Amino acid sequence: MLAMVGIAPGAPPHNRPMTRSALDTFITQSIARSRAAASPADCVLALAPLMLDLIEHAGDFLQPEHYRSDPAGYTRNLIHETPDDGLSLYALVWLPGQWTPVHDHGSWGVVGVVEGVLEERNYVRLSPDRGADEGIELARGGAILLNRGAVTSFVPNPDHIHITGVPTERPRAVSLHLYGRMMSNFNIYDVPARSRRRIQVAHNES
Ligand SMILES: [Fe+2]
Repeated sequence: MLAMVGIAPGAPPHNRPMTRSALDTFITQSIARSRAAASPADCVLALAPLMLDLIEHAGDFLQPEHYRSDPAGYTRNLIHETPDDGLSLYALVWLPGQWTPVHDHGSWGVVGVVEGVLEERNYVRLSPDRGADEGIELARGGAILLNRGAVTSFVPNPDHIHITGVPTERPRAVSLHLYGRMMSNFNIYDVPARSRRRIQVAHNES
C-alpha cells in the first residue's frame, strides 16, 4: 500500500498519473530487482540507478507530510513499506545541526539526496565482529558530501557504520532512503566505551 496522500480532486488530470507513476515504478522495479539479486551487493548495484531516476521525480510524488521536520532532531517520514516488510522507503529531513548517532543498519540501503547537502562521516571497524556488543574498536574514517542528485549505498556484514547529518552552517537537507527491511531498529555505538546497543526508532506515517 502506498502511504501517500492522493491528488486533490481539483488537480489537473494530467498530474494524477505522473505523480503516482514515478513512485509506483520505483517500488515495483525495486521489489523485482531486490528479489532477483544474489547478494546485498548485487542488490544495491541494481537499485542505485533506480534511485538516481527517482530523485528527478521527487517533486512529483513527495507530499507536504514528507517534509515534516522537528527542531528536536532529524525526522523520518515513511513514504512506502511493502506488506512483507521486505522494503521500506523514507524521506529524511535534516535541519541545520541535526545528526544521527553513530549507527549501523543491519540491512542494505540506497540513499538519494533531493535537497541540500547530506554529510556522511564514516567509521572503520578495527576489531572483528563476533556478535558481541562490547569490545568494539572503531576508527574515524573519511567524510562524504552528498549534493542534490547524489546516490550512495551500503551493505551489511560487515555493517556500514557512520553518522549522517547537516552541519549548522548549511541549510536543510532532504534525502530518500530505501532499505531491505522496515528500519524500525538499529545499533548505535558508544565509540569511547567500545560498545553498542540496539534501539527502536520512530517514524512519521502519512
Ligand atoms: Fe545510516
